[in-house]
Amino acid sequence: MSDTLPTPDPAAPAPAATAPAGELIRFDGVTKRFGENTVLDRLDFSVEAGKHVTLIGPSGSGKTTILRMLMTLTRPDEGTITVDGRRLYPAKRREVAEVRKNIGMVFQQFNLFPNMKVLRNVTEAPVTVLGLSKDEAEARARELLELVGLADKCDVYPSQLSGGQQQRVAIARALAMRPQVLLLDEVTSALDPELVAGVLDVLRDIARSTDITMLCVTHEMNFARDISDDVLMFDGGKVIESGPPERIFEDPTHARTREFLGAVL
Ligand SMILES: Nc1ncnc2c1ncn2[C@@H]1O[C@H](COP(=O)(O)OP(=O)(O)O)[C@@H](O)[C@H]1O
Ligand SMILES: [Mg+2]
Repeated sequence: MSDTLPTPDPAAPAPAATAPAGELIRFDGVTKRFGENTVLDRLDFSVEAGKHVTLIGPSGSGKTTILRMLMTLTRPDEGTITVDGRRLYPAKRREVAEVRKNIGMVFQQFNLFPNMKVLRNVTEAPVTVLGLSKDEAEARARELLELVGLADKCDVYPSQLSGGQQQRVAIARALAMRPQVLLLDEVTSALDPELVAGVLDVLRDIARSTDITMLCVTHEMNFARDISDDVLMFDGGKVIESGPPERIFEDPTHARTREFLGAVL
C-alpha cells in the first residue's frame, strides 16, 4: 500500500518561503496515476485563504483524489502541493503532520468511531493530536455539538442516530480540530432526501460565520451557488473552467460544463 502514506524525502528542499499574499492552497503540476489511468494531469490551481471553492465534474474526474491528497491519504506522482506556504509534497514527515493538523475532512460515509459515544468522537482527536485536556476538549465539543443541533446527543452511540445526525457529528468532529481548511466530499450524498437540508443548513452557517477555507465537492448546486466564491469544473484531469458560481451555472463557456450541468441541475 505505497499509496496510503506520504513518503518522507530527506532530500526535499525547504518549504516554499513565500506564497502570493492570501493564497492558502496551491497545486503545481500535480499528476496522479492509478496504473494506466492518469486521473490528474499536471493540475494547477490555487485557493485563497477564507474562500469557499466548490469542485464539480463527472464521476471519476479526480475530485475525491484531490481532497485525499490534501488529507495526505494519497500522494501525487508528480508536482507539488503547498498549504499556507508549507510544502505538503514533497516534504518531511514531521512537516506533513504540521500541515495536516490544519485540515479537516468530512466524508460521504460519516466514518464516525462506532465504539465511542458522540462526545468522545468529537474530543478524541483534540486530546490525542492537539494535546487538549479532557475538560477543554469536552467544553469545545459541547459547543460544537450545540452548533450542529445535537447538544442532547452527547451520550449516545453513532448507531443510535440518523444519517443526518451522524453527519452533523462528523462536521462537529472536524471543526473540533480548529482547522484552517475544511474539505467536504459529497457529504449529503448518502443521506435520505429529508435529512439533506439540515446538514446543508449547518454548513451554510459555518460558511457564513467562520473564516475557514472550504473545498467542497457536491451535487447540491443550489447549496454550491449559495456558499461558493468560486467553482472549478474538472474534466480529463484538469480544471477546464472556473469562475464565480453565477457565471459557471448560468453561462458556462465549455461544452463539457454545459453537458455536466445539464445532467445534474
Ligand atoms: N485507490 C485507487 N485505486 C485505483 N483507482 C483509483 C483509486 N482511487 C481512485 N481511483 C480512480 O481514479 C479516478 C478518480 O477517482 P475519484 O477521485 O474518486 O473521482 P471523483 O471523486 O471525481 O468521482 C477514478 O477513475 C477512480 O476509479
Ligand atoms: Mg468522489
